[in-house]
Amino acid sequence: MVFERLHPRPGPVTAPELLAGLRDGGGRGLILLNMVATVDGRATVEGGSRGIGGAGDRRMFAELRAVADAVLVGTGTLRAEPYGRLVRSPERRARRVAAGMAEDPTAVLWSRRLDLPWEAELFSVASQPVVVICDEPGPVPEVAAPVTLLPARSLGVLRGRFGVLLCEGGPRLNRELLAEGMLDELFLTLGPRLGGDAGAPGIVDGAFPPADLELRWVLRHADELLLRYSVASRA
Ligand SMILES: NC(=O)c1ccc[n+]([C@@H]2O[C@H](COP(=O)([O-])OP(=O)(O)OC[C@H]3O[C@@H](n4cnc5c(N)ncnc54)[C@H](OP(=O)(O)O)[C@@H]3O)[C@@H](O)[C@H]2O)c1
Repeated sequence: MVFERLHPRPGPVTAPELLAGLRDGGGRGLILLNMVATVDGRATVEGGSRGIGGAGDRRMFAELRAVADAVLVGTGTLRAEPYGRLVRSPERRARRVAAGMAEDPTAVLWSRRLDLPWEAELFSVASQPVVVICDEPGPVPEVAAPVTLLPARSLGVLRGRFGVLLCEGGPRLNRELLAEGMLDELFLTLGPRLGGDAGAPGIVDGAFPPADLELRWVLRHADELLLRYSVASRA
């Protein structure tokens, strides 16, 4: 798939080309957030994010996972979206191994009470490592995936723990990342849709200190716009 880069240096470009430099220096301690929103700023339509983005968003979503050491997900999202093996494509897994990375990124989940949807496909894959940050550690059911508990009350425990940590939301988890001042970059797809649901959250649910963003790129695929920002500083 080819994206049309509108800024900087307009022209055709693929996602692997775009992300090739992301891990320069091992990507030490880099925390990225990838979200999709409707043009009226909603992160969910009918309770989920499916249907907001299209093929361009799905491609960037998969390619970001392919360059991440770990993928952070909130329990609300795990319940609402289908989560299985994070990198499904054997070609992308082979690319990771060739680059000296683990074949599968670690799934990092955030839950207070370990009340997780253990039946999710994510837990059924023996090669898919899972770390759960939880306030109250407890027994872990027998699942195929190797599960490690990380008792902690704050996401601050993740600082510097992984090379590239990719957060996939949801909005409540995003607020926590921003409140902790942990976010380095935001990848945001604007799907060609108006959500219209006044009760649906935006990409961040809750208050946090304002921050300035620097625009790194603007891509277009069909009617979708894909934006990449660096979090510059506290405003
Ligand atoms: N548009 C997008 O790109 C996008 C991306 C992701 C998700 N979504 C949508 O967003 C919705 C889910 O988002 P959400 O905001 O409801 O949930 P979320 O951010 O995915 O997860 C929130 C969870 O974090 C845990 N948590 C909250 N406070 C905590 C604390 N202090 N310590 C430890 N854990 C804590 C809780 O888990 P426990 O209940 O287990 O304690 C809570 O359920 C879904 O509808 C999903 O489809 C959209």
